[in-house]
Parts: sequence; structure tokens; C-alpha cells
Amino acid sequence: TARSAAALVALGGLLLAGCSSSDDASSDGTAADGSIATIASGKLTVCTNPPFEPFELEKDGEIVGFDMALVGEVAADLDLELAPLATGFDGIESGAALNAGQCDIVASGITITDERKANMDFSEPYFDADQGLLVAEGSDLSTLESLEGKTIAVQVATTGAAWAEENGLQSVVFDDLGAQVQALQTGQVDAVVNDVATLSPFISDGFEVAANFSTGEQYGFGVKKGNTALVNAINTTLVRLETAGTYDELYTEWIGTAPAEG
Ligand code: ARG
Repeated sequence: TARSAAALVALGGLLLAGCSSSDDASSDGTAADGSIATIASGKLTVCTNPPFEPFELEKDGEIVGFDMALVGEVAADLDLELAPLATGFDGIESGAALNAGQCDIVASGITITDERKANMDFSEPYFDADQGLLVAEGSDLSTLESLEGKTIAVQVATTGAAWAEENGLQSVVFDDLGAQVQALQTGQVDAVVNDVATLSPFISDGFEVAANFSTGEQYGFGVKKGNTALVNAINTTLVRLETAGTYDELYTEWIGTAPAEG
């Protein structure tokens, strides 16, 4: 009802007032004029770790992809220019890049985990993910058992690296997905583990996606802990994109299929 909606809004206002100190205008990320404070004026600086197609990839000297399309919409809603910055995934997922003031947002196919929640604040989830196995075409590796005694390439500080360890797999750690696939190419490793959606772009290069290990992960965009102004703005944009059908359009454009219902 309208009445309970009004009550909710009032409650929300109280909660917000309780969380931020009103005399320090910037403690929650709000600038003195009520706009959102960013590290470089007029810009929304976003740390990301390509190559991670279709989420972030370099094309014609620019970083594009599903993540960049979504944060591009956030930037547009805030009247800011999107400024993507390629950085290491370890600094992105640990909160170090945000805490060092390198970027306003980390948008890098980041799985929301409790550990990471201690180091940054996350938006609402925007993508469902699982782990996948990339092997050379014709390889007989496809199950967890078949990987026993084999060497797996993982990416530093990722959920895939943690998954390999939890499952007792012998792994070699690489800085990014590009280096992982190169190691597979040269025979340094027997298989690659990373988020399954990022493996299909390699099928045309003589590789195959041999398994999908269901981990039930969800991606979120991260902001510096306590930056409620920015995290609220991201969530508002996500709701707008969802309502207008733009989320589905961008999903189909970059992921190649329509999003699953629900
Ligand atoms: N989703 C995984 C994680 O959060 C992998 C993300 C890697 N992202 C990237 N842009 N390379 O750990």
C-alpha cells in the first residue's frame, strides 16, 4: 500500500541518516554539492582485468565488454565519463586498488564472497557464473577424477584458483586468463580453470570447454567500503537497465544468449 511504502521510505531515510555522519560531507562518498565524489573529476574510473572476454577485452585500444557496458550506463546516469583502467586482479579483488584511490569502482567479473565483502562494498549481483575447464581439442580430460596428476593453470586470487585448491588439484598460478591459455597452448599445463563464460571465446583456437563445474557464483561491482553514495547509484542504474529491458539487450549483445528467467 502507499502507506507502507511511505513508511519504508521514511525508515530508509532514518537508516541512511544513521549510517553517515552528516557534518562530514564526503564520508559516504557524497560531495559537498550532493553529487557523487570521484577520484578524478568528471570521470568514473573503473579498475578491470582484461583479457576476460566477454566481460572486459581490449579492442582498438579501448577496453570494452559486458562489465564496461554496464558501468558505462552508471557513468552516463551520473554525468561522468567512463575511464576504464587495466590493473592486476589481485589488487582488484583484495580492495587494495579501491583503498589506494586507483579507481572508484572495480568491475572485473568479480564473484561476491564473504571474504571480499569484508574489504569492499558490493552492488546487487548482475551475473551468474560457474567454473569451467578448457582443454586442447580432443583431450580426454573432462571430469574432476581425470584431472588427478595433471597440472591446471589458474588465475591469481580468483575463485577458480580457490576451487582448484579445494579439490586437491595441482595448479600453476598465472596473472591473467591470457597467460593461462598461452600455458595450455605451449603444453606447460594440461588444462585451464576459470569462469566458464570466459572460456568459449577460445573454442575457435583449437580448444574445447570440456566441463562446467557448478559453483553458483554471482558477480558484483565493488566500491570502497562505506561509499554508499556510489553503491546506491550503481544499484539504481541496474534497476533502470532491468526495468527498461536494456540489461537483457546488453546481456544478449555480449554474452550471446538471452539471460535465464528469474
Ligand atoms: N569470478 C572470478 C573471481 O571473482 C574470476 C574473475 C576474474 N576476472 C578478470 N577480469 N580476470 O575470482
